[in-house]
Amino acid sequence: MTTTVGTDIDIAAAFLRAGELVGMPTETVYGLAASVALDEAIKKVFQTKNRPFSNPLIVHVAQKSDLEWVSDKPFQLAKDLVDEFWPGPLTIILFKSDRISTFATAGSSSLAVRMPAAEMALSLIQKVGAPLVAPSANPFTRISPTTAIQVKDYFDGKIPYVLDGGKCTIGIESTIIKVNENNLQILREGAITAQHLSKYPIIQNDHSVHHPGNYKKHYAPNTPLRMVKSIKEATKKFPTESTVLILFGQHSDFRQYRTIQLSEEKKLEEAASNLYSAMSEADSMGASVILIEPFPDQGIGKALNERLRKAAINNLYE
Ligand code: TXA
Ligand code: MG
Repeated sequence: MTTTVGTDIDIAAAFLRAGELVGMPTETVYGLAASVALDEAIKKVFQTKNRPFSNPLIVHVAQKSDLEWVSDKPFQLAKDLVDEFWPGPLTIILFKSDRISTFATAGSSSLAVRMPAAEMALSLIQKVGAPLVAPSANPFTRISPTTAIQVKDYFDGKIPYVLDGGKCTIGIESTIIKVNENNLQILREGAITAQHLSKYPIIQNDHSVHHPGNYKKHYAPNTPLRMVKSIKEATKKFPTESTVLILFGQHSDFRQYRTIQLSEEKKLEEAASNLYSAMSEADSMGASVILIEPFPDQGIGKALNERLRKAAINNLYE
């Protein structure tokens, strides 16, 4: 099979209706999409990603009212959240309706659903005529892709088409919340932060309860990534030629090192949109270590730090 990268939504929709997988651009990261109506296609998603069958998928819908299609009696709280935050990077977990295949939810009665903001994704879902399951379009435990070409690199010869919507504007995966009748829990941090959600009752996530997909290691480059309190201090200990620095507005003289800048002006949103591609690029440089400092723990910085903790070989906070 040859993998084509293109911008033709009709071609992409035809492949999906025929039970094939397609790389789909969203505002967060690229997804590996299949029609939720086709169990065989959903199975292919797990196989192609090498993802455990116990790890459920997010269903992507094209309109707010689809909340009532994927779930029979969604709580009022879920409807309020959808009204405020969809389309956008907020995934909601609630009880599924019988219309949703248990292949998508890994056998569970709860379902993760979101309406992406990217226009191309919305048109694609509409053209297919069914919601689309889409995990991030990376092999299990690898970095999520933020460009179409990265999706092709990961799955070349394994999927027929990657719909090219350019670089993802946000750059990290959606915020995931579990919505209960009277409160919500944040299961995965993202661009929609606790602060954005602060008018809703948030209860602390009970970490003793296992949520699917909550693996400690995730998003890992092959080159060891090390979080350090101060890059300037750390560079004294690491040899210049085999170390790559991922910088967040640090302007000290690191000229002897290979460096990748996330945001000259120290803007967290800009850093988010560049983080995964920077990690991939650093990974391809043949270095023996990648150094990065944690981000300020505010706004989307919290979500970025969560991703770094999962990608790093050390834990600065341990
Ligand atoms: O931004 C995103 O959310 C991207 C784009 C493509 O939409 N998708 C994405 O999907 O990140 P994925 O599969 O890589 O991550 C979804 C996470 C997984 O950790 C999964 O375990 C969790 O959501 N999840 C899915 N359904 C769930 C459920 N019913 N209960 C608890 N967790 C669930
Ligand atoms: Mg993922």
